[in-house]
Amino acid sequence: MKNVCSALTVFSLLILVAVSGVAMSCHQKPATETEYSPERLEIGQAIVEGWNCSFCHTPQIQGPDGKFIPDPKRFMSGHPADEKIPAVPDMVITSPEWMEFLDNLDSTVWATDNLLIFSANLTPDDETGIGTWTEVEFVETIRQGRHKGIERRLKYPMPWQELSEVSDEELLSIYEYLMTIEPVDNKVPPSIVLFR
Ligand code: HEC
Repeated sequence: MKNVCSALTVFSLLILVAVSGVAMSCHQKPATETEYSPERLEIGQAIVEGWNCSFCHTPQIQGPDGKFIPDPKRFMSGHPADEKIPAVPDMVITSPEWMEFLDNLDSTVWATDNLLIFSANLTPDDETGIGTWTEVEFVETIRQGRHKGIERRLKYPMPWQELSEVSDEELLSIYEYLMTIEPVDNKVPPSIVLFR
């Protein structure tokens, strides 16, 4: 009997290990922070800072001296979903009213002659950011100028043509660095057609 019991104990332990193994693998990301070399993360960070990606991809808040600064809590999280966009003035886009309208928006919002465009969430949030993107999808987004490399075209003013001139190594470093920043849950709205 004793032997049967200990055999059962071993068996249930094995099942436990197997089940927790499955549970752990469910939470695994395409790549994890610990796999990245600190040198590559530094290169990625330097490129993101050098190209000022944050200027367009981070919403701003007013600092203590009244000046607008990138919000560190929403770093690279794109145009805030909950920000109210003022009514679009129904007038020629060179008019002073139109300019005033644009001046009141921050640099997570851009306008062409018929679209309002919102910058993307580049934090590793799985639902609303690039958390589930693979390295290839990221690199190809920049190389092809298309969402995930094959979907819709990236709109103005995302400088993908210029950025595409950097090496694969550098693009991968940017990807790895972005995967290590704080994930922010922010579903960026689709662009708005202004004049039909
Ligand atoms: C001048 C503003 C601007 C700058 C600078 C900028 N971006 Fe963007 N970026 C945008 C806008 C706006 C979009 C959304 C375009 C769209 O909706 O098609 C975007 C989209 C993207 C996308 C595609 C996201 C998706 O879901 O398809 C990636 C990736 C990206 N940017 C990476 C970067 C990186 C990395 C840098 C810096 C090296 C950078 N951007 C600098 C404005 C900018």
